[in-house]
Amino acid sequence: MDAASARLSRPLTYHVTTFGCQMNANDSEKLSGILEVMGYEYTETEDADFVIYNTCTVRENADLKVYGRLGRLNGYKKKNPGMVIGLCGCMMQQPEVVEKIKKNYPFVDLVFGTHNISDFAALTEKALDDNVMTVSLLDGDNSGLIEDLPRKRKFVFKSGVNIMYGCNNFCTYCIVPYVRGREYSRTPGDIIEEIKRLSDDGVKEIMLLGQNVNSYGKTLDEPVSFASLLRRAEEIDGIERIRFMTSHPKDLSDELIETMASSEKICDHLHLPLQSGSTEILRKMNRRYTKESYLELAGKIREAMPDISLTTDIIVGFPGETEEDFAETLDVVDRVGFDSAFTFLYSKRTGTPAATMEKQVSEDVMHERFDRLLELVHERATERSGRLTGRTMKVLVEETNREPGLVTGRLSNNFTVHLEGDESLIGQIVDVELTECRGFYYFGKLK
Ligand code: 5AD
Ligand code: SF4
Repeated sequence: MDAASARLSRPLTYHVTTFGCQMNANDSEKLSGILEVMGYEYTETEDADFVIYNTCTVRENADLKVYGRLGRLNGYKKKNPGMVIGLCGCMMQQPEVVEKIKKNYPFVDLVFGTHNISDFAALTEKALDDNVMTVSLLDGDNSGLIEDLPRKRKFVFKSGVNIMYGCNNFCTYCIVPYVRGREYSRTPGDIIEEIKRLSDDGVKEIMLLGQNVNSYGKTLDEPVSFASLLRRAEEIDGIERIRFMTSHPKDLSDELIETMASSEKICDHLHLPLQSGSTEILRKMNRRYTKESYLELAGKIREAMPDISLTTDIIVGFPGETEEDFAETLDVVDRVGFDSAFTFLYSKRTGTPAATMEKQVSEDVMHERFDRLLELVHERATERSGRLTGRTMKVLVEETNREPGLVTGRLSNNFTVHLEGDESLIGQIVDVELTECRGFYYFGKLK
């Protein structure tokens, strides 16, 4: 590597492109950290000496995006033959994807999965030495994951923290349990140590990450609840905000609601994927809750925390979804009034039970329902969006705005706020009067 850098008489550069969820964003920070230890310097563009795509495969579109962009990388590689192209993440955990890459994208140098990020440096050495594609994939055992990897955080003041890996829920549409493996919780001791180190390093906000954080700790030798982990994290000096993602409605406990409601540090935001409002479709999805129990849960949460922001994920067009089923979804959206919702067209994932279910919904029907859902989500979210206008609330300032003289930050409930200010505010938690709500963000004045 040093030789290559000397030959080019410049430092070697890298770029990591992340597709998909917060878990991947967190893994990408580890990949970047390892690359920096190896001597690569970060560059904004993919026209770099080392490019990694950290891929997602939750919907077919995510796969297609990666294949589409690989062509462009090959263009860069033709100009810079020493360039290294690496692919990792969920998409690579599927043998048929790896076969396709080998056959159609031979210019890729390195392929690895979600379980061997800790081998990344060694795999890179091998890829640099060999002239053939280096492929290294491990099956889904999450218990041996190495935790202490170098890390380059995108923000100095906030960070993700993995509390668990994998998923055991097997929702019938979802590929995640197949590619990410079985659920495995880190010990509270390891997690708390990591958060303390982050706090010493200037982090004020943490995001605890897992596919289903509400089942955290159930399989540990000494089982602990997610709420008790939150209470321990709260005690750490310097940590001022705690977020988490994602919650599964079937496992959300009263203990968690009480812990959130009585906490100063746990943020006023719950992402609670609904997926469908029809009890029959939920059964076919293997979600293990009903329309009624979801509504009851949402009501309980709102009662305990009136300011809370509730957001959700909804899938339209799951196999067998009738107009009546879809009307149930609209009904839940109308009754809960989400602050925002990620809406998805059902995407068939080979190997999942739903892929072979009867009565797949046609594209036309799916799109038509999707548009109606989006309209209602938008209408209900707009009605709720201005509810904090006039109040003074705490904002963690995150970055300067494209508009000169403005900075942008977030409220505890995850809403975006723009205010007058300069770079010196970045990373600070400040009191801001919310003067105006435009669409889905506020303008405010520093108090
Ligand atoms: N098709 C469409 N959306 C899906 N999701 C997961 N699998 C699929 C699929 N096969 C959505 C779910 C999940 C979010 C991360 O992605 O709504 O909560
Ligand atoms: Fe997929 Fe369901 Fe696990 Fe979420 S809980 S990752 S939707 S299987």
